[in-house]
Amino acid sequence: MKYLFLNHKMNLNKDEIIDYNNELNKINYEAHEIAVFPSAVYLSLMDSSNYKIGAQNVCIYENGSYTGEVSASQLASLNCSYCLVGHSERRAIFKESNEEICLKLRNLQNAGITPVLCVGESDKNNRYDVLKEQLSVLSSCDLDKLIIAYEPVYSIGTGVVLGNNEINEVILWIKQYILDNFSKKVFVLYGGSVNDSNIVTLNTVSSLDGFLIGKSSLSVDKVTKILEVITSG
Ligand code: PGA
Repeated sequence: MKYLFLNHKMNLNKDEIIDYNNELNKINYEAHEIAVFPSAVYLSLMDSSNYKIGAQNVCIYENGSYTGEVSASQLASLNCSYCLVGHSERRAIFKESNEEICLKLRNLQNAGITPVLCVGESDKNNRYDVLKEQLSVLSSCDLDKLIIAYEPVYSIGTGVVLGNNEINEVILWIKQYILDNFSKKVFVLYGGSVNDSNIVTLNTVSSLDGFLIGKSSLSVDKVTKILEVITSG
């Protein structure tokens, strides 16, 4: 079983998401855990009977006067099973800090939603220092459920994909680091320019538990091809 998480970011209009939903529901992928992460405005349109629903973001506060925000309990009421936290776009563009990430992780945990903590370096030379700093949030929250998505920042939306040996090395390091320091076994996904061509190679990385896909996730045809590869591998 592999996780295939589809991060739509701020894309698709209402008609497109309805078509997407219909097309995705025609695919048989029982062997895998598929989750769609649409824009928050579409969460209530998603049909969670066939695949899981994920949110792209959550508020640091639990509820109250926070205009424009969406709480973890509201996400739970829309059947969200997962929520991305610490995506590199949120860290870079919205200056999301470790402190905020901790609050989000806790709110999600309280709402019964599995956080997908995104980590990844901008520069290979300080990869492990950056990963340690990003994973340090785990020391202040005791999470029952957690998935890590490793996405090197220079791979997101660029077409640059690490080689299999390098990916395997980082994934094994993340798993061991979290086990040694936080006594948790976690699933780790890989993301950054994963598509229906390079999935053939990426799918052979044995330590990987799945993929977080941005651009290619907007096409159900591409998702179908990716699933075919994952299923046959
Ligand atoms: P990408 O995005 O597949 O378009 O590179 C991945 C992500 O940002 O999660």
